[in-house]
Amino acid sequence: MNTTKWAAALSFAATLYLTPQITYAQDSLFIIPKPLVQLAKKGHYIYTTHTDVFANPDFKEAAALLKEHPYLKFEEVKILKNGKHLPKQGVALLKAAKDDPLAQDAYRLEITPYRIVITAHQPQALLQGISTLRQIAYTRKDTKSLPAVWIEDRPAFGYRGLMLDVSRHFLPLSFLKKYVDLLSIYKLNTFHWHLTDGAGWRLEIKKYPELTRFAAWRTDASWKNWWNNGRKYVEMGNPNASGGFYTAEQARELIAYAAKRGITVIPEIEMPAHSEEVLAAYPNLSCYGLPYKNSEFCIGNEDTFKFLENVLDEVLEIFPSKYIHIGGDEADKTAWKQCPKCQKVIKDFDLTDEHGLQSYAIKRMEAYLSKKGRKLIGWDEILEGGLAPDATVMSWRGEKGGIEAANSGHDVIMTPGSHLYLDSYQTNPIGQPESIGGYLPLKKVYSYQPIPAEIELAKQKHILGVQANVWAEYMPTSNQVDYMVFPRAIALSEVAWTPESRKNWDDFQARLQQHYRLLQQFNVNYYPPSNNLSILSSFDMASKLARVTINSEQFQPEIRYTIDGSIPTVNSPIYKDGISLNHSGTVKAVIFKDQLPIGKVQELEIDLHKAIGKKVTYNNKYSSNYPAQKELTLVNGQTGDLTYGDGQWQGFLGDLDVTIDLENPQALQQLKMRYMQLTGPGVYMPAYVKVALSNDGISFKALPQIDNDVPYTDDSLRFKTFIFDLKGHTARYLRITAKNEKKGFMFSDEIVVY
Ligand code: ACM
Repeated sequence: MNTTKWAAALSFAATLYLTPQITYAQDSLFIIPKPLVQLAKKGHYIYTTHTDVFANPDFKEAAALLKEHPYLKFEEVKILKNGKHLPKQGVALLKAAKDDPLAQDAYRLEITPYRIVITAHQPQALLQGISTLRQIAYTRKDTKSLPAVWIEDRPAFGYRGLMLDVSRHFLPLSFLKKYVDLLSIYKLNTFHWHLTDGAGWRLEIKKYPELTRFAAWRTDASWKNWWNNGRKYVEMGNPNASGGFYTAEQARELIAYAAKRGITVIPEIEMPAHSEEVLAAYPNLSCYGLPYKNSEFCIGNEDTFKFLENVLDEVLEIFPSKYIHIGGDEADKTAWKQCPKCQKVIKDFDLTDEHGLQSYAIKRMEAYLSKKGRKLIGWDEILEGGLAPDATVMSWRGEKGGIEAANSGHDVIMTPGSHLYLDSYQTNPIGQPESIGGYLPLKKVYSYQPIPAEIELAKQKHILGVQANVWAEYMPTSNQVDYMVFPRAIALSEVAWTPESRKNWDDFQARLQQHYRLLQQFNVNYYPPSNNLSILSSFDMASKLARVTINSEQFQPEIRYTIDGSIPTVNSPIYKDGISLNHSGTVKAVIFKDQLPIGKVQELEIDLHKAIGKKVTYNNKYSSNYPAQKELTLVNGQTGDLTYGDGQWQGFLGDLDVTIDLENPQALQQLKMRYMQLTGPGVYMPAYVKVALSNDGISFKALPQIDNDVPYTDDSLRFKTFIFDLKGHTARYLRITAKNEKKGFMFSDEIVVY
């Protein structure tokens, strides 16, 4: 559509919704996650050149962590004998009295002008109080002076995790320590260490030296280059070998470092899939007995179980965690289907099929871990073919697996790709380092609610908590990990700790502004808020109004906008809280600072068109994995955003073939339809789009097709709008087809008809 022409021809109705700006007192504390109860008191505690630190004997070790508190100088922790009076000055770590109503997982932090007191029943809870105190110091401009406050605080969820994939790109131990430090400052208590995958085995296993002599090293430092160029491993010592591993001793060192900070390290050893590297080193464990053939262990070979049990024996020696993660995701069943040994197991054990075979393998591993006093966690594929009796499920393919598992009485950790996969883009991909795809801005992470409505009340206790995952295919350096993880992990921290009733996006954003100071002190290469704007619109069928919202990553920016197609100026209206339009048009917006525009002008065409709300018949069904708003999607007046997972892009595995019924013959002007391409996850443009018109729904007149001109070899995020000139045509029915030539996913946006 020629926007200026349309804009000139149309009039607009714009309504502003005003909300008061939140203001914050000078001396507020900016704690994330938001404590359960926080009461400001009068005065300040001022650190001097030496501050005494006192601790109950149970908390002596925890007190040592205060050495890492900036500006708190002390030599040795003074042990408080039982029954001794509370010191008059300094910092005291007190054990809660038996009759103190403080919960077992709670801490109390009191800062007064005389002293700082942290009280808890347990060291784990006390450590959370220390994290709060450290964080207060790191987030203040004047670190030596702490405002008086009374805090009582406890977590909403017991499991608060962050995962890191060190297989796709190996990262040094020193970086993992920094990662763990930051977890503890944000009260995340679980580090899920993804140690093995096709791109490299990362943990020393003494019984199987080939795992670290060979399977830990590959031909290219970049995962992408390696993946696209033969995927071969090389021996350690080869001048071009790239990779690495952690010795058992180094793993123990990290576990101890994390434990001191209240963090459990859970190892993940992938099985039965994502194991190309193991099978290259030990090809006898694959169905064909050959390297570089499959990703899956042969389940019909008893040597597989011997190997896995031996590996786990050493893993259990190193890792004291109750939970052990065995992967379980994305097993390709092709080799098992053709393998006589696997088929024999299916027959002998009366299993339904290859899903049953996967379930058989997981159940055996669960029994093994259970015998050793541990618990198995796996990705949600472990539900397929029947869940092992005592397994805990990590729900990653959305929430479905988690809902099913919790409702059937299994423990669950919520980690849906839609909200908690930190390998997705956090802003418009244009200008960003390449990532795997998807679009997950900070606000969306923050919006996550870990207990889905579909879980029965009595089963909600099975949601142990949440975790964000950091898959590192496109994170070749620790700097890039920093960039993708922060600040989104800070939003995760509040999702995991703070009850929904205490969460508030505006308040979070205000507190977050002080946390860049903390990240800077830890040398975190975080993603800074951009000046990009995201303009979204939805259509209200009842009022026939388009409702436009503009989101910014900046805190309380001055956004100016126009609705007449012109470039916003310093005199254009300031955006507050939404714009309503009763006609088509283009919203343009940009941030102003000191009277000048900063960043790019963003725009969104609002199409209040003829097809909105009309009946769409699918001659070819959309994919059940990406139904978006089902039959309403293509004509609901709402366009998709930057990701195909946003509920407005509809996915097709075959051709798109739909007929729209406009209810009566109408003089037409134009039809347009947008597609997306992102080749990484297999999303391609149609080869061409066709439109045919009819008045009776039986005989259609075809218009010239429009061919795609976006190369399939372009691996950046691309959009293309196919525009048909319909001037001079009258029709009631429009049949639209789009050719899915690449047989991957094809994603269609709104079909706009004028
Ligand atoms: C996964 O993302 N494959 C668990």
